Amino acid sequence: MNLPDLNQARMRTDKKVEFIDAKNIKSDKFENKKYFIRTYGCQMNVHDSEEIKGILENLGFKETENLVETDLVVLNTCAIRENAHDKVFGFLGRLKHLKKENPDLIICIGGCMPQESSVANILKEKYPFVNIVFGTHNINDLGSMILKESKKQQIEVYSIEGNVYEHMDYIRDSKITAWVNIMYGCDKFCTYCIVPFTRGKQRSRKMEEIIKEVEDLKKEGYIEVTLLGQNVNAYGKDLEYGYDFATLLENVAKTGIQRIRFVTSHPWDFTDEMIDIIAKNDNIMPYIHLPLQSGSSKILKLMGRRYTKDEYITLYNKIKEKVPGVSITTDIIVGFPNETEEDFEETLEVVNKCKFDGAFTFIYSPREGTPASKIKDSISLEVKEKRLHKLNELINSYSLEHNKEYVDKIEEVLILGASEKGENKVYGYTKTMKLVNVSNAQHDIGKLIPVHITDAKSFSLDGEKVIFVKN
Ligand code: SAH
Ligand code: SF4
Ligand code: F3S
Repeated sequence: MNLPDLNQARMRTDKKVEFIDAKNIKSDKFENKKYFIRTYGCQMNVHDSEEIKGILENLGFKETENLVETDLVVLNTCAIRENAHDKVFGFLGRLKHLKKENPDLIICIGGCMPQESSVANILKEKYPFVNIVFGTHNINDLGSMILKESKKQQIEVYSIEGNVYEHMDYIRDSKITAWVNIMYGCDKFCTYCIVPFTRGKQRSRKMEEIIKEVEDLKKEGYIEVTLLGQNVNAYGKDLEYGYDFATLLENVAKTGIQRIRFVTSHPWDFTDEMIDIIAKNDNIMPYIHLPLQSGSSKILKLMGRRYTKDEYITLYNKIKEKVPGVSITTDIIVGFPNETEEDFEETLEVVNKCKFDGAFTFIYSPREGTPASKIKDSISLEVKEKRLHKLNELINSYSLEHNKEYVDKIEEVLILGASEKGENKVYGYTKTMKLVNVSNAQHDIGKLIPVHITDAKSFSLDGEKVIFVKN
């Protein structure tokens, strides 16, 4: 057993990353058996779950959404905030009961939570009924761990990041839009954030492998790819070839895939060249998620974000100016230790200046082992909740304002599936990542279609498929 020590993990190895062909283990041992998977956290985890599904289906398992009939459960966990933990431990309570009824049930826990040494220890001591505990660096070993399963708890979690695996068998959730990892880990060490510990140092994939994956997805009929990384625009900084994100974007655009997106960009790594390439290529979508985190330069410094409030606004305006019609969303944390009312007012001021299309907002959650968790905090939860509420109201008002600008326009929408709104509606996204519920388009799933926008709400648009009539 190799449990991570966060302080050690912070130093991390200088070991050269190797690019390894994933040996996709195949077996019929679990033919006719079923698996249930639940994914918490970010897109990275969503895509990791597609890898986990590939591993399980190679062993013969088939997916079920019914917990009662399942033979194996995987919880792919997140550690970003404390409430992410609570959800997983809550779910484990349910699984304990299930295991009493079905003692052969195999329970696996993976993802970011077991990367924290305290969690791995809790699982060992308090949850002995969990069969397999794995981390973010050894997903590729899950197949062999399941094959060796013998009722004895197996914990294999590595604090030191591993190599970059290529040619994994994914079972993708969609046949229309696909995630493509361009890098793993993060080197930014924002002082509040657990990710550099749970995901390890930045490891970029080779550009030729990424391009090949996009070309293959295009051949399979995929319309859209989203390039994935915690800090995509730092792509290549760890490679010897001198490639950067701008070059990668340009080459992905050349594959001719119809829509390219990318998440997440760090303001510090955004270059003018990247902005030009986004502006110049029609198949790179005019949508950028650009986390602000705080509008106070003082707090940004304490967060280790490497930019000031003014630098953020300058970058924001430059992108708006150069990329026509771009939509920009953000992430904001309120209640960082000792955030004063003035600091918070500065965040509101930046929101008023930038008028974001949308934002994910969070109350700061101290994460064990991170530098910020050692700062003594004097601000009450009540104050933090009030700030979050005020911020959300402002953000939502701007979202609605932006969405209203779309009414009566015709937008290209990629239709992804049946809408939750019922009435035979389908849903999809504009180039700028606006969710649209569309009528008259039940037969257009997987297609890019023109949609006349008829109504706007804070979080979505309504529209009708435009039908061109020949004279
Ligand atoms: N790599 C991305 C996103 C990382 S996690 C980036 O840098 O933008 C997604 C978001 O969770 C972050 O942008 C941040 O707003 C939030 N977050 C991260 N750690 C947090 C913490 N300890 N408490 C509250 N929110 C946090
Ligand atoms: Fe966390 Fe900062 Fe890395 Fe994003 S850039 S994953 S917030 S350390
Ligand atoms: Fe959560 Fe890990 Fe993503 S901590 S946000 S699942 S990188």
